[in-house]
Amino acid sequence: MSETALPQALLDWYDIHARDLPWRTSPADRRAGVAPDPYHVWLSEIMLQQTTVAAVKAYFLKFTNLWPCVTDLAAAPDDRVMGEWAGLGYYARARNLLKCARHVTDSLGGRFPDTREDLLTLPGVGPYTAAAVASIAFDRSETVVDGNVERVMARMFAVETPLPRAKPELTEKAASLTPLARPGDYAQAVMDLGATICTPKAPACGICPWMHACQGRKAGIHARLPAKEPKKAKPVRLGIAYVARREDGAWLLERRPDKGLLGGMLGWPGSDWGAEATEAPPLDADWRDPGVDVRHTFTHFHLKLALRVAVVDKTATPARGQFIDAATFRRSDLPTVMRKAYDLVAASLIET
Ligand code: ADE
Repeated sequence: MSETALPQALLDWYDIHARDLPWRTSPADRRAGVAPDPYHVWLSEIMLQQTTVAAVKAYFLKFTNLWPCVTDLAAAPDDRVMGEWAGLGYYARARNLLKCARHVTDSLGGRFPDTREDLLTLPGVGPYTAAAVASIAFDRSETVVDGNVERVMARMFAVETPLPRAKPELTEKAASLTPLARPGDYAQAVMDLGATICTPKAPACGICPWMHACQGRKAGIHARLPAKEPKKAKPVRLGIAYVARREDGAWLLERRPDKGLLGGMLGWPGSDWGAEATEAPPLDADWRDPGVDVRHTFTHFHLKLALRVAVVDKTATPARGQFIDAATFRRSDLPTVMRKAYDLVAASLIET
């Protein structure tokens, strides 16, 4: 097969089967001369890091409704953006998102750089995002490698080296196929192939445009690729969170420090999370143990968060955090782990 035959076969497939995604400029529109909006491409790629396409769709639509261009986002208050991001996880991304929007607005006249190298200088933009934006928004021939692409390449080239060790080799394989023509559509086509046909379980080889070239399939090993290094067991951390409701309906919340886990997000005051949980009530109250824990899994650990609940009167003065009126409080502003705590105990507090 010629050097361009494989990418071309995939582009032909993409012309018919491209997923209809809210941030995407369809191949037909691309051909008709519609240029992708770099802001949309950048925003979607930041949101898609570690988060599924299905989950990102609603957030992307909400963000672009609230802030139609990068200059609008740059002008938004930090708290508002963090609140709207709540639930997407990995909150450092939201802080970098704002930093980047402000940098593009204040220092670059509201225009995103159009090369991988220049994109790499933006806050929160690493090699993956720089390549994705350069190729999808600006049609630069850059190689975009995410989990889908790694799986497709491992199977196509029967790479048996386990991940993450195989990354450089898989990137090289991916680069060897990246075409000069339509690199933006091609990058999205490989991702779509990985998401819809070359899936982790039960790949649909029979309808794959690369079926006949796939070395993994020829060797009968495709289904178990990419190989993965055995995962280290995640440790369990323990903590205690204090959910206090004032008689007038206000909730005691605390903004977490900007740096670190859930940085800049709202949360229930509580103990550190570690090998053991130490009581750390934010105010004197008749704390009740509701007998249920919050369970939440972060990238590097499982959290078992015990809860304490109290209803307090108007004179209560917390040593940490501040009361947020019932009218201002939005459950949706809480990151998922804090929302789980709310969902477990709020009803019982509101009833009392
Ligand atoms: N995952 C990450 N970026 C994507 C994109 N542009 N299209 C589809 N899936 C993706």
